[in-house]
Amino acid sequence: MQQRVSIHGQWSSRLAFILAATGSAVGLGNIWKFPYITGEYGGGAFVLVYLACVVAIGLPVMMAEIMLGRRGRQNPINTMGTLAEEAGRSRFWSLIGWSGVLAGFLILSYYSVIAGWAIAYVFKTASGALIGVDAETAGSLFGSFVSDPWQLLAWHSLFMVLTALVIARGVQSGLERAVRWLMPGLFALLLVLLGYSISNGAFVEGLEFLFKPDFSKLSTSALLTAMGHAFFTLSLGMGAIMMYGSYLAQDASIGKTSLIIAGLDTLVALLAGMVIFPIVFANGLEPAAGPGLIFKTLPIAFGQMPMGIFFGSLFFVLLVFAAWSSAISLVEPAVAWLVENRDMSRIKATVLVALVTWALGLITVMSFSDWAFGFSFLGVQKENGLFDVLDLLTTNFMLPLGGLAIALFATWAMQRKAVTEELAMGEGLAFRGWYFLTRYVTPLGLVFVFLNGLGLL
Ligand code: PHE
Repeated sequence: MQQRVSIHGQWSSRLAFILAATGSAVGLGNIWKFPYITGEYGGGAFVLVYLACVVAIGLPVMMAEIMLGRRGRQNPINTMGTLAEEAGRSRFWSLIGWSGVLAGFLILSYYSVIAGWAIAYVFKTASGALIGVDAETAGSLFGSFVSDPWQLLAWHSLFMVLTALVIARGVQSGLERAVRWLMPGLFALLLVLLGYSISNGAFVEGLEFLFKPDFSKLSTSALLTAMGHAFFTLSLGMGAIMMYGSYLAQDASIGKTSLIIAGLDTLVALLAGMVIFPIVFANGLEPAAGPGLIFKTLPIAFGQMPMGIFFGSLFFVLLVFAAWSSAISLVEPAVAWLVENRDMSRIKATVLVALVTWALGLITVMSFSDWAFGFSFLGVQKENGLFDVLDLLTTNFMLPLGGLAIALFATWAMQRKAVTEELAMGEGLAFRGWYFLTRYVTPLGLVFVFLNGLGLL
């Protein structure tokens, strides 16, 4: 096959790709979402299912996505169309790309609002407002903050502007360099926080909550949420990693690269959990406090530890950066599509995409603030209104369905020869293991969890 080249250029090295993909994977999902859903779904058993999903479903799908992206070398819509044609299959496979673009818009719309909370907390922490706060004060501070729609709107707008700035310049330029420093920085600060939790938190209780599985707490929706989160946290199922894969050099090893990305992502999430839960239990907080969990717990730590203002502000700054490097990957497929197919300039495409996402973000602003209204969806009462619906729809359905389609395409629709050629890992055990997982285990697992989650099993 003639080798295609991405019109957007290529990562300068394999390390650059690893950094960018890890930048996409590590974000609010690890530090904000993982702890709060783990708290809501009862801890250990949920964590175990999530880890199993990362290994048995996430990793294989990640390799498949990168492989497809690198072979197609375009945005996910075109990539899927081209590869389907090459394999003599229907162009309908490009629907994977379309649903991914839609999911990207929807996810970024709420992601940006939450990232806005993190920006606000940089300033709250730096102003010294958190000094010496106890659980109650931290909770009421957060409560009054999220109930103010204008504040949420302002910070959401700021985050969208930041995101648009980087996207407009092209993903490779500034970001590659920034992520190289910020990721290790975030990691180091998590270790500082871990030190606090070990010495001041209910560390053993926290660890037990996280790692001691109690399967009686595992509801069917917990299973679906854990699987959905494996996709969300690894940025899978919507074309973000496929898009980044399209900028990957031909000679980089997809298998090893995926292992590194998934490993780092999981490590950050588990660290975040080990930081948060000891604080939760030491302060008599509720693990199931919902999306506000980290904003109700971390301020207590920063309010008490030496140099808390410094560490606290820095932590939220790094969290914003982590969210930033994820946010750009959420809409990169849409922007690349506009540039490749609509002949738009990158800047114009960025402005368009940012405006649409910003407007969609109003839904989430309304869900949390005083503008909120009660809501029930599929018979479930949704505490945070449309935000919960958006989250459920994208994370629990769109991403896993996208992942299912990707796994099926890579191992049933594509010719095995093309797959072997692109993955270039030979025909050894590693390849055959991946092929088997992706062809049978991943799809069956996905279908099982879906049917189970929908109450059909
Ligand atoms: N993986 C990101 C996080 O954990 C979120 C994300 C999802 C990014 C899907 C891109 C695509 O924060």
